[in-house]
Amino acid sequence: MREIAGAAGVVAAPMAGGPSRPALVTAAAEAGGFGFLAGGLAPPDGLAAQVAEADAGGAGYGVNLFVPNTEPVDRAAVLAYRDALAPEAAELGVQLPEPRWADDDGYPAKLDLLLAHAPAAVSFTFGLPSRDAVAALRRAGTVVVQTVTSPAEATAAAELGADALVVQHPHAGGHSGAFLGEAPFTGTLDELVTAVRAAVVLPLLAAGGIGTPDDAAAARAAGAAGVQLGTAFLRTPEAGTNPVHRAALASPGFTRTAPTRAFSGKWARGLENAFMRRHADAPAAYPVVHHLTAPLRAASVRAGDPSRTSLWAGTAWGEAREEASADVVARFAG
Ligand SMILES: Cc1cc2nc3c(=O)[nH]c(=O)nc-3n(C[C@H](O)[C@H](O)[C@H](O)COP(=O)(O)O)c2cc1C
Repeated sequence: MREIAGAAGVVAAPMAGGPSRPALVTAAAEAGGFGFLAGGLAPPDGLAAQVAEADAGGAGYGVNLFVPNTEPVDRAAVLAYRDALAPEAAELGVQLPEPRWADDDGYPAKLDLLLAHAPAAVSFTFGLPSRDAVAALRRAGTVVVQTVTSPAEATAAAELGADALVVQHPHAGGHSGAFLGEAPFTGTLDELVTAVRAAVVLPLLAAGGIGTPDDAAAARAAGAAGVQLGTAFLRTPEAGTNPVHRAALASPGFTRTAPTRAFSGKWARGLENAFMRRHADAPAAYPVVHHLTAPLRAASVRAGDPSRTSLWAGTAWGEAREEASADVVARFAG
């Protein structure tokens, strides 16, 4: 496990959409932790460039991929949501795109890239990869990590041959990795780690709502081999967090986080803003809704306005500091 959590047992979580970049994974590794590049949302050539840059950094790193959604999408619900968003788009002076119905994230090409490249670790979220992909990555010498949110998902991942699990609690910032459609876990992170440990014998990285070194110590005491932190790294200079997101994390104007489907069509936790409140009934249609809202989010960021863009954050966002990522690794080391 130390090979993917570093001597410090602290992992910089993959954070798609900008925050995770080669500088962050290199800094985390140099500080004795470990970092994941975010392959989700990145086009294959963009990911290839990031992998090359991380290689040049000289430290070991992992890459995360989103497993494509194969569930059918309710097209009528998406079109109705598009209509509901039209006045907001007009206000911002942007055009909403026609829906892209396919999940065309470039997953097969990105998987091929990682098979050829064999980074130290590859983690998957939103679903399980194929058994063949797991076996091929392992043959290439890559540690295969699966994000799970319940004991049942952990059992499925273990059965597939995963080497380690990220145990993600609903307090986590960003998207939930849940893939079995269960209700979110209602206990604490420590209780979730304990429940997963009872189901499988695999090294575990605890994630979700870890804001203080004491939180991390409690997760380790419950049996986690390390912790994977997202929000704690968002305000570091090495993260590529956009300025609007960064400012919102430090602003007293935001008082809570909440789960929402309004931006992407998939449950994700962020600082609650007006867009989330207005669109609490957004349809379950990932990544169709993600592409639909992309111009709105981009225009909101360009305007320096946090009210119409996603501000992913875990429940412990108030503990996140403006500090070097090496300091985050040092503070949470165990
Ligand atoms: C901005 C942001 C983007 C994220 N993107 C990804 C991602 O691309 N892949 C992934 O597996 N998890 C992603 N996550 C979830 C993290 O991996 C992790 O589970 C979460 O950040 C842990 O909770 P915390 O934010 O409270 O530390 C993201 C989280 C945030 C805050």
